[in-house]
Amino acid sequence: MNNINAIILAAGKGTRMNSTKPKVLQVLSDKTLLEHVLMQAQALCSQVFVVVGLGSEQVCQALDDDSINWVEQSEQLGTGHAVQQATPYINDDSISLVLYGDVPLIRQSTLKDLITQAQKSGVALLSVMLDNPAGYGRIIRKDNQIQAIVEQKDANTEQLMICEVNTGIMVLDSGLLKAYLGNLNANNAQGEFYLTDIIAMAVKDGKTIASVIAENDSEVAGVNDKVQLAELERVFQKNQANQFMQQGLTLKDPARFDCRGTLNFGQNCEVDVNVVVEGDVSLGDNTTIAPNCIIKNAKIGTNVVILPNSVIEDAIIGDGASIGPFARIRPEAHIGESAKIGNFVEVKKSTIGKGSKISHLSYVGDTIMGEGVNIGAGVITCNYDGVNKHQTTIEDGVFVGSDTQFIAPVTIGKNATIGAGSTIAKDVPGGKLSLSRTKQAVLKNWKKPIKK
Ligand code: UD1
Ligand code: CA
Repeated sequence: MNNINAIILAAGKGTRMNSTKPKVLQVLSDKTLLEHVLMQAQALCSQVFVVVGLGSEQVCQALDDDSINWVEQSEQLGTGHAVQQATPYINDDSISLVLYGDVPLIRQSTLKDLITQAQKSGVALLSVMLDNPAGYGRIIRKDNQIQAIVEQKDANTEQLMICEVNTGIMVLDSGLLKAYLGNLNANNAQGEFYLTDIIAMAVKDGKTIASVIAENDSEVAGVNDKVQLAELERVFQKNQANQFMQQGLTLKDPARFDCRGTLNFGQNCEVDVNVVVEGDVSLGDNTTIAPNCIIKNAKIGTNVVILPNSVIEDAIIGDGASIGPFARIRPEAHIGESAKIGNFVEVKKSTIGKGSKISHLSYVGDTIMGEGVNIGAGVITCNYDGVNKHQTTIEDGVFVGSDTQFIAPVTIGKNATIGAGSTIAKDVPGGKLSLSRTKQAVLKNWKKPIKK
């Protein structure tokens, strides 16, 4: 749709957040509140204006998006005054969509509906029915037609009983909007320039106000404090989880699953409780994730089993691999097909070949490991000399005994065997047994110390 402008109001302080961050920069899932609104606006509008006030520098910096037209409202004189800061940059023969920067869950389809209505009638208003309408502007109707909006503080007892309230979201012909804004005054209980007053002006002008009533209140709910932020986070997560389940993902408990990013998955994937997914994650067919795992920016193959309490970040996990329990797969780890990474194993910036096993209590960093390698318990690659990182290369078929340290840089030849308890500081030839141990001895003159 062309020639539609979005005007996003975001000049409010958000005092009740008790935060040094402006309200619209509070985060819901993986985006700021303002980014959620922007996403919808940018999908529908050719130009986007964001009206900022207090903390404007912080907001502009945080978003760093050249397509946004920032408009400053240095004094918060009301919603009408806020919109008026943007209108000089808007053509009369266009349409303006007014959004709030702190109403993050507004849906595309609702906005499209409003826009279509406004294209016909000139003004379209989004309202919602609330059991408790306290604090909101009430929608005044006559013969079912919208006549005006009366703010809570200006309403009489009869008007206060009305449960249909203004969401603040509306679409107007820009020429009309500009004309009406010019006629606003602040003769009301709050001494503000109310955007809502233009509704009565349009009616007086003979216009019919098109009405869209939101289906649920979370879609139009504003966020004023951390409690409301958490409530909308839950709504967002619940909706997302429902969508994933509809697409075939098994979630043991959708209330104990969070995805802050994008998740793609194949057939028959299962996710158990308390799993957090962040960034970009994909799961191949038949992959399962056990409880308490955190998975961030990872490409996980088919038939992968991720056991409880594992953390995976910026990594690739091959088909048929088994991870955990209690494994930590760090950035730039590439776990090969059918490899096994067991409990208390940390892998960083390493490639682990097909079918290789690191089953217990190991640190493997800056390593290239071939196929069919078996790493015993407690093996450590000593990759850091205090200044630089060095690489360990372990070729195919190597067997490493428990409690071995590799002092990198070092290369272990194909099919070599390393005896348990070795400190390997030199390259090891393939096919042979290497070990470094002091001979076991019984000391003759040793006496057990006595407590003084
Ligand atoms: C406004 C509406 C009310 C509606 C309610 C829905 C008016 C007069 N009232 O009331 O009918 O039911 O929203 O939440 O419009 N803002 C600015 N600059 C300003 C004032 C506000 O940018 O000078 C922004 C705020 O940051 C916020 C939005 O506009 O995002 C709404 O402001 P708020 O003060 O919350 O409006 P209400 O008085 O609650
Ligand atoms: Ca409000």
